[in-house]
Amino acid sequence: MRRVHLCFLWWWLALIAALLDIWPACSDQHASQRGHELFQQNCAMCHEASNLDLKKQPPKLEGLFQRKALPSGAPATDAQVRKTIINGIGTMPSFQGRLSDEDVNNLVEYLHQLN
Ligand code: HEC
Repeated sequence: MRRVHLCFLWWWLALIAALLDIWPACSDQHASQRGHELFQQNCAMCHEASNLDLKKQPPKLEGLFQRKALPSGAPATDAQVRKTIINGIGTMPSFQGRLSDEDVNNLVEYLHQLN
């Protein structure tokens, strides 16, 4: 009888371990999928276009976080990119009030996958 209970306990532990392992991977994927949609809606028209009538061409954002610094020379960190999106920079508009904190986090997550 006691043996059966132990087996049952192990089974649960294994299940919980498996769930903990899989869960973050699923939510990461969801975030970058959502980030991709947000990027297409809010950023791609500048960052993936060329010949825009802007004084300064938007930089390509692939491998952003692998560089030593952002194109502006600011540190290539999540916090800095979040700030850029919220405040804007140069001719890039501010997205304050247009994107939620969660949107901005999803976008940063997506930018990490752009290589
Ligand atoms: C109207 C066009 C436009 C839109 C829309 C736009 N950007 Fe930009 N972005 C720019 C331009 C232009 C620059 C270069 C600004 C400068 O250095 O003066 C820039 C720069 C950046 C940089 C580099 C900042 C740095 O410090 O070098 C990041 C990161 C960035 N944009 C991300 C985004 C994201 C994410 C979005 C969507 C939420 C977005 N941009 C939407 C035009 C745009």
